[in-house]
Amino acid sequence: MQTNSWVPLFPEQASEFAWQVDYLYFYLILVSVAFTIPIAAAVFFFAVKYREREKYATPEEMHGSIVLETVWSIIPFIISMTIFLGGAIVYYTQYRMPDDGMEIYVVGKQWMWKIQHESGQREINELHVPVNTNVKLTMTTEDVLHDFSIPAFRTKADVVPGRYTYLWFRPTKPGKYHLFCAEYCGLNHSGMGGYVYVMEQPEFEAWLQGNVSGQTPVEQGRDLFENKLGCASCHAGGPQQRGAQLEGIFGKEIKLVGGGTVIADDNYIRESILNPGGQVVAGYQPIMPTFKGQVTEEQLVALVAYIKSLSGVEPGAAAPTTPPAANTAAPTSNSTGGANSNTQGGN
Ligand code: CUA
Repeated sequence: MQTNSWVPLFPEQASEFAWQVDYLYFYLILVSVAFTIPIAAAVFFFAVKYREREKYATPEEMHGSIVLETVWSIIPFIISMTIFLGGAIVYYTQYRMPDDGMEIYVVGKQWMWKIQHESGQREINELHVPVNTNVKLTMTTEDVLHDFSIPAFRTKADVVPGRYTYLWFRPTKPGKYHLFCAEYCGLNHSGMGGYVYVMEQPEFEAWLQGNVSGQTPVEQGRDLFENKLGCASCHAGGPQQRGAQLEGIFGKEIKLVGGGTVIADDNYIRESILNPGGQVVAGYQPIMPTFKGQVTEEQLVALVAYIKSLSGVEPGAAAPTTPPAANTAAPTSNSTGGANSNTQGGN
């Protein structure tokens, strides 16, 4: 189904920004060729022109040329700036999440991709999405570092233990496209892949209908919160409330014990469940027990989705705009920083 792209050997361009990546890539090749050929030619030309004609000749004295030196500084400067600009545009487009779109949760695990739709359907190593829709992936892993990569969409992002990373794309052509793990993750790394199916909207609706949806992530999160984990005993409103209020916090700046602040994003919520003593909200005691080891990454995804829903955040609404690599940014002030080191890896 992957018909040839306009460039031989290249996968099809099947997302909205795929052409940008290809243009940048070919521009880089063009620049490289445009320098390599004249330099190689000059090497041969000068080797012949200035070959040794007599032994121990005294060479002519050379003086610098301001004009020449200025020209060969300014031209490369301009070229390198165009490369920078092109790269910045592509990066900005790819790693700034769109405001709206379909949210999908991805959990990597040696050696498979577990995927859940916001309406509850689950799939493994397959991802069904509608065409011409913004699709946003919130990703994490149960074990080691993986990387979610769809060459036909010209996008990929690391999937990192202990935090959420994000990826988005807007498929432009119905079809079946390869999905890969692009980070060596052990014995069956090469087998950790599958397919992305891009479908017309009605077909996609039919696909959703035809699959058991079970609980949505938000419902599943509510169930964990209220029943299975008992979070509600401290975090539900009313006179019994001992835990920090969770309604309306998402995306807000939270004041912490000790004076620092932190933005309540997905990663903060996740971290607060696993390492509650790390960033305690001002005005509360550090009495919450850790849930590390008691909840799976999939349950955490559901809990975070539920807690976001308490702030009126619908799945698919504006996600944090942090890029996948840069969101490793140092947590603010008094956080425990290394708390999300890869202690979960390989167990
Ligand atoms: Cu997972 Cu390579």
